[in-house]
Amino acid sequence: MLGRGKSEAHAGQFCMMTLSQRYLLASLATAGLIIAYYLHYVAGLPGPPSGRTPQGLVLGILGFAAMVGALLYSIRRRFLGKAMWFIRVSAEARKDLKAREQRALQQLQLLQQQVLRSPHLKPTQLRHQAKQILKDNAVTLYIRVRIIGGGGQGVRLAIERREWAGQLQVWYCWHLMLGCLSVLLIATHAGFRFSNPVAVLAFLFLVGVVATGVLGYAIYKVVPPALTKVEQRVEKTPEELGEELNEVRRELEAVTQGKSPSFCTIYQHEAAIPGVGLTPSWRWLIEPAEIARDTTRPDRLRLIVREIPASEQEDFRKMVRLLFQKESLEVSLYPQLRYDYLLKIWLSLHIPLTAGLMVFSLIHILSVLYY
Ligand code: HEM
Repeated sequence: MLGRGKSEAHAGQFCMMTLSQRYLLASLATAGLIIAYYLHYVAGLPGPPSGRTPQGLVLGILGFAAMVGALLYSIRRRFLGKAMWFIRVSAEARKDLKAREQRALQQLQLLQQQVLRSPHLKPTQLRHQAKQILKDNAVTLYIRVRIIGGGGQGVRLAIERREWAGQLQVWYCWHLMLGCLSVLLIATHAGFRFSNPVAVLAFLFLVGVVATGVLGYAIYKVVPPALTKVEQRVEKTPEELGEELNEVRRELEAVTQGKSPSFCTIYQHEAAIPGVGLTPSWRWLIEPAEIARDTTRPDRLRLIVREIPASEQEDFRKMVRLLFQKESLEVSLYPQLRYDYLLKIWLSLHIPLTAGLMVFSLIHILSVLYY
């Protein structure tokens, strides 16, 4: 009885683990099995291990299969992009969709509360109500609701974002797990001996792919939550911010045309604030994710206004208003552009390394099959 209680407690703990923790645990267990297999195989060999022994070949084939398995994730992402092209929408429609999604989620949460108060509600009845909410808000394509429990047990709703061919997050965990395990499989396949140039090159590409993959994981973990915070604060898409910024720049150009030298000097100095260009640059990689605002600026401009000829004072005030607007837009836009740039740089490393890995792996496999 006690034993059963314990195992139930363990099962509960397992369920409480996050998806990535579960995959990390599975990866460590598989890595342990691979090492045990390798040690057992090496112990029974008269000579040094090699990729030519039956066990070495098994490890090589498994390593290659793991690599191909990891690669499937990229195909899945591309496929998802294509499969969803027909629901890709403009910025305006995106806003509307977001509002409808929020409304549907609120209504589903109310339904969830109703279920908690009366847990013996019939699952069929609940499913019907949930479906109706999705239909009324026209979000059936984007949100899915599953009914969990029933049959004597309490029922509850599981609300998920709809994804084609399974959850992308699960695919990503498999991608990371298989990628990391393939390094161990290939190192044991080679018996930790590296002399054949093509095979070694393939192995180095593999290490490069996995190292950049782990870096990408860190980027995806850290940057999107920070970005979501910025987007929630700003409540505008990068496209909208970019358009507004261009408009403000045009107005600034018009208001500063043909003004006195003191007006122009102040404008040139102030227009350089916040001091970060919005054209992608390698410096973005080392600069902080968010720009600090110049808090001394309002006082400085209030004092400086006396240096401006009386006839230009009104335009000067307009320019100051536009400069503050420009600063606020740039401060909001910068983290979003920086994130895009970071991902582009990362992809420009990860994808060519993957291509190199596939090319050299295939040359290696064909050459060992041929000779
Ligand atoms: C179907 C998959 C594979 C097969 C059948 C295979 C086969 C072999 C064979 C027969 C050898 C021994 C070569 C020799 O003794 O001259 C070998 C060695 C090796 N293989 Fe593979 N291999 C496979 C996949 C891979 C992959 C994907 C990589 C790297 C990403 C790789 C990296 C190596 C390395 C580093 C060695 C050791 C070379 C040396 O001793 O210098 N293999 N492989």
